[in-house]
Formats: sequence, C-alpha cells, structure tokens
Amino acid sequence: MSESTAIDDASRDPYARTLLVADPDREILVMRWVADAWCAPHDHGEAGGHVHVLEGALVERRYRFDGANLEPISERHVVAPAILEVGPGEIHDMRAIGTTTTVHVYRPRVLGMRVYDLARRETLVVSDDCGAWVPRDASLVRAREAWSSTPTTMPPA
Ligand SMILES: [Fe+2]
Repeated sequence: MSESTAIDDASRDPYARTLLVADPDREILVMRWVADAWCAPHDHGEAGGHVHVLEGALVERRYRFDGANLEPISERHVVAPAILEVGPGEIHDMRAIGTTTTVHVYRPRVLGMRVYDLARRETLVVSDDCGAWVPRDASLVRAREAWSSTPTTMPPA
C-alpha cells in the first residue's frame, strides 16, 4: 500500500527529533525544524506541556475535531524567545519560518499520540517514537480510524 499523501509526501520529515529525557512522568525533546515544512495536526495523548521556541519563528494553528472534520480555530505567529502551552487533548500543527529550534517538555510522557491525516480522513495513533507526521513506514501506525462522513454533535467551542 502506498503511504504517499498530500500531507506526508515531502522528501523529509518537518523536523529532526532528539529525545533527551523519557520516563513515565515526563518527556523532553529537541526539534530542529526544516524551514517552511508543516508538521501534521496532532495531539499529545494524555500529556500536556510547553514548547520553548529557542531560535527562529513558528506559525501555530489550533484545531477542533468533531469526528468528521478537522476545523482550524486559531492561528498565531510566534518568534523566539517564546513559550507555547499545549494542554492535554489539544490539537495543533506548526510550521517553522526559517531555521528554528524548539524544546518540548511534556508531562506525563507522550503515549498514544494521535496524528490527523487530512488526505485520507483518518486519525492515526502512531508509535511513541514517531514525530508529528503521517508515517511513511506503516509499521509506525498502531491504529487508524476513518473519520465519519457526518459530524457528531459537539458542544460550542
Ligand atoms: Fe505538538
């Protein structure tokens, strides 16, 4: 099965990911971003935390998901030095503007991250060592769920 989609067919991943600390209580990573590459919309499982923008700048978009569609609800530009808070269950994506370096601190460790595949209209649970992109290697997808053709009832944002 081909893994190429409009979302993940870039020649390389949107960032290089270096895991500094991972234990049940926390996870700390450094990301070196590829200029102008979007990561995929994703959450962080049950974890929440902070993104420290050390160098460069980012565009961050936040979304809500109703079971059928992923709807952008906000967008902001963030220039280093800055810190973004990301709560448990929040869905976002980011694009680096030029050379950008971020440090991500999550509590507890990010387990069962969901990545939203816009091209296939699927929600993927990816391997815990996978970044926020649709894996080209299908073995990194632990589960996938097709989006509904009709929205489920959601409370107002
Ligand atoms: Fe994230």
